Amino acid sequence: MIRAVAPGRVNLIGDHTDYLGGLVLPMAIHLGTTVEGTPGGETVSLTSADEAVPATVPLDVEDPATVEPGWARYVAGVVAEVRPTTGFTGTVSTTLPIGGGLSSSAALEVAVALALGFEGTPLELAEACQRAEQRASGVPSGIMDQLASAAGVEGAALLIDCRSMEVRPVAVPDDIEIVVVDSGEARTLVGSAYAERRGQAEMAESVIGPLRDATTLDLKKLQDPVTAARARHVMTENARVWAFAEALSQGWPAEAGALMAASHASLRDDYEVSTPTLDALVGRLSATPGVYGARLTGAGFGGCVVALTEPGALTEGWKVRPAAAAQVATS
Ligand code: GLA
Repeated sequence: MIRAVAPGRVNLIGDHTDYLGGLVLPMAIHLGTTVEGTPGGETVSLTSADEAVPATVPLDVEDPATVEPGWARYVAGVVAEVRPTTGFTGTVSTTLPIGGGLSSSAALEVAVALALGFEGTPLELAEACQRAEQRASGVPSGIMDQLASAAGVEGAALLIDCRSMEVRPVAVPDDIEIVVVDSGEARTLVGSAYAERRGQAEMAESVIGPLRDATTLDLKKLQDPVTAARARHVMTENARVWAFAEALSQGWPAEAGALMAASHASLRDDYEVSTPTLDALVGRLSATPGVYGARLTGAGFGGCVVALTEPGALTEGWKVRPAAAAQVATS
């Protein structure tokens, strides 16, 4: 029997920067997905307590995006990347809200890859699962979610440089809480709008070079105000990630909270990936006594908000703790 467990993630700061070689600061969380089963047979066959129809994927699957039901596409994407020589029969269970912005799909991919016998470094595991996600969803997503799940460190957030792929743990102090609140708004636009934003940022890079290295003077070379705003978000967000990592490790929660507020404003005004519902939720949480700061987390267009708080300040949402990386056990 093989048992693979992979955590979900919450991103504390640094959104829409990973696919531009920028900086992100996610953490793996104690909620996650488990795949349990036995190798053998000609297909990868998984049942899930949360899904009516099981996933049955042939080992030579060609186009994961056309597989039914929808959740089986993520399994198929992994099968297409790992290409196991034998099948697998088992079950999937999760403590993550599915599609709720805590990277349930990345956790599923990483757990399936490990259950199918993937061998390699955490970065190689994350890269294979990123490609699986792109094959399954058609969205040109970055590496953050899969790498957070594959490289998590108990008690720490991960400062990831998405250019060098260096992962540096940043301890999360015991006297702060990280709370995730679901806006209840489904991320319906995420496919097309995500790709559009990425395209706009890449358009800016074609004029002024890597946004990671650009300066505010370079911004003036961007004639189109929308392109300039997209670039400004990425550049200022990278700077906020450094500052946030410093604030967290120095034990300055008020500074960290202020950076989260600035990140949300930038995602709302310059990158335009927030919604009125997310803005209202961030506003309400930020105004609650004991909350240092709050922001949308992940792609935006709905989904979840993350807040940094004094212990006990919020009584809603999930109180998440930084958790260890995905792992596999055989018995
Ligand atoms: C999604 C993607 C990530 C990242 C975030 C935005 O979660 O999967 O790669 O781009 O959006 O920061």
